[in-house]
Amino acid sequence: MSNSSEAELLHTFKGIPFTTRSSPELLKSLDTFKAREDDVLLVSYPKSGTHWLAGVITKLYMTQVTVTSPIEFGDISQLEELNKLSSKRIIPTHLDYNMLPQNFKNKKCKMIYISRNPKDTAVSMFHYYRDNPNLPTVDTWTAFFDLFLRGNVVCGSWFDHFLSWTEHEDEKNILFLFYEDMKKDLPKVVKEIALFLSLNISDNNIQDICKKSSFSEMKNDTEKENSDPNHTVCALTSNRKLIFRKGAVGDWKNYFTPKQNIRFQEIFNEKMKLSKM
Ligand code: A3P
Repeated sequence: MSNSSEAELLHTFKGIPFTTRSSPELLKSLDTFKAREDDVLLVSYPKSGTHWLAGVITKLYMTQVTVTSPIEFGDISQLEELNKLSSKRIIPTHLDYNMLPQNFKNKKCKMIYISRNPKDTAVSMFHYYRDNPNLPTVDTWTAFFDLFLRGNVVCGSWFDHFLSWTEHEDEKNILFLFYEDMKKDLPKVVKEIALFLSLNISDNNIQDICKKSSFSEMKNDTEKENSDPNHTVCALTSNRKLIFRKGAVGDWKNYFTPKQNIRFQEIFNEKMKLSKM
């Protein structure tokens, strides 16, 4: 990382960089968390479409549900706060599979993992690093590209995160989604999510949800709302205005040099040999 405030903003837990918005005490205590069978986890590596997916899921429920702040956000009191909620909980997290509280796994809670072309994820994260005061500043795309490939960024290596989750792709309680599929055919993905969550939704409702979840609608909504610092689905910021940047597929082509693309592709091919997905 390239600036002097890095030490104030980041700390490492089990080899993974976290911001100081996730306290070491909380991270150490995650395994004591009491999951409920009807909890739904919304899992992602940062910048993969977490807010988009959260927006869709909340619109799918007709009953009262609470999208909580991420399980790894805050200090030790976070676990108690989540415990107090009486409504059904949709819990976002950027944790990799190995750090996820064991109780979620034992109870076979439903989990939705969204991922995105890591090249676009890297570009999105580069902008997030520049705009988000909770993250160290990086001077150039070239510098960030190296950090990303080395996994020396918040939440660690994209490859390790993706592999830790896709190792479990055969488990029936985990649904894997791709940002690009949502861009291509949102109604199809929304139907898939509804089926996975056992929600009966009419085609009209699906169309309505998709309309309200478009990039422009979500960005406009955010601009109208007053930020509530306690409401966040990303442990890295509570400022939703930082989220809706471009919302496009393939923006990486505007940043990667041909050489960077070759290097990225080689590492991707090598690491993904381990993935069936
Ligand atoms: P860009 O920075 O490429 O624009 P996350 O929510 O995990 O932080 O991901 C943020 C990324 O998802 C941003 O990507 C953001 O623009 C994009 N995004 C958010 N809502 C979206 C929507 N409704 N449609 C398409 N992309 C969306």
